[in-house]
Amino acid sequence: MAGVTINSVRKSYTDVEVMHGIDLQINDGEFVVFVGPSGCGKSTLLRMIAGLEEVTSGTVSIGEQVVNHVAPSKRGVAMVFQTYALYPHMSVYKNMGFGLKQQKTPKAEIDERVRAAAEILQITDYLDRSPKNLSGGQRQRVAIGRAIVRDPEVFLFDEPLSNLDASLRVQTRLEIARLHERLGTTMIYVTHDQVEAMTLADKIVVLRAGVIEQVGSPIELYTNPANQFVASFIGSPKMNFFTPDDLLTNVPTVHITGIRPEHLILSAEDKAVVSGKLELIEQLGEYALAYLISDTGTEFTVKMEVPPSTSIGEMLYFSAKPKTTHHFDTETSVRVLS
Ligand SMILES: Nc1ncnc2c1ncn2[C@@H]1O[C@H](COP(=O)(O)OP(=O)(O)O)[C@@H](O)[C@H]1O
Ligand SMILES: [Mg+2]
Repeated sequence: MAGVTINSVRKSYTDVEVMHGIDLQINDGEFVVFVGPSGCGKSTLLRMIAGLEEVTSGTVSIGEQVVNHVAPSKRGVAMVFQTYALYPHMSVYKNMGFGLKQQKTPKAEIDERVRAAAEILQITDYLDRSPKNLSGGQRQRVAIGRAIVRDPEVFLFDEPLSNLDASLRVQTRLEIARLHERLGTTMIYVTHDQVEAMTLADKIVVLRAGVIEQVGSPIELYTNPANQFVASFIGSPKMNFFTPDDLLTNVPTVHITGIRPEHLILSAEDKAVVSGKLELIEQLGEYALAYLISDTGTEFTVKMEVPPSTSIGEMLYFSAKPKTTHHFDTETSVRVLS
């Protein structure tokens, strides 16, 4: 097992720089998730750790060793991709053992490792099948199994659940969490899905346009987002943002005020911080989402246990739960304490 250290890493394709100086410490045994919108550089960063992309400047270390010039197969990493990349003409067993066979691992040891991994992933019954006779979820488990048999120092996952349907995604997500619990190996996981990031990570790295915006535990990012970008990326539905003009309070502010949909509560007019005309209600059973628009034209969302008995078009008033209000600098969007 090993940690990963990324030091002042930059990456350019021809003359366009896409990663602008990344510094990151990933501890041994940690589950770290890279999250951010499409194109922000998640895969590029992961592939530089894997050795599938060269680093333009800076260093990548695995354990104590700088691996900038170490071949991917010698880095002690195993990668699982969104597309399972299984060999269609080989059985599940052969797919899982292929890497070891290439390394000239003795047959008996391959057999032992493949069966142990299959046991962990509960795919022992499919070992003789061809990948084409498996469901998407089963294929992804084979791809994960192929990574496990290599007994890597670090597992790398690039959006491994994106090709699965919603219920399989949840199930496979749990399996990956259990796998980390069981193996305790360092795992680095790329996703654009903040729910996957929140549920899997010990540590989340939020990326935007080739820059790290914030690193922290899921709850740190939720409660203390460093800026408006992180605040709106982490949490679902997204945090609401109000300008000074939107607020009903007498206390003047020059900042953007952020309040999450789950932190607004229906209140009397004289106690309210914001008000809005009810535009739409989504009833989700367990809770309801009310969509509103303020007199000043700002749209916002409120999460409620019970939907309001109000008609569409009527005005509703809300206060914020204590200590849940965030403030951001209007110019820089950085979080300010006040
Ligand atoms: N082979 C490449 N050549 C040129 N630009 C690339 C290449 N691969 C990725 N990029 C660019 O690098 C940026 C980061 O891409 P990527 O790491 O794939 O983002 P993500 O995985 O977060 O969606 C994007 O702007 C993308 O267009
Ligand atoms: Mg990607």
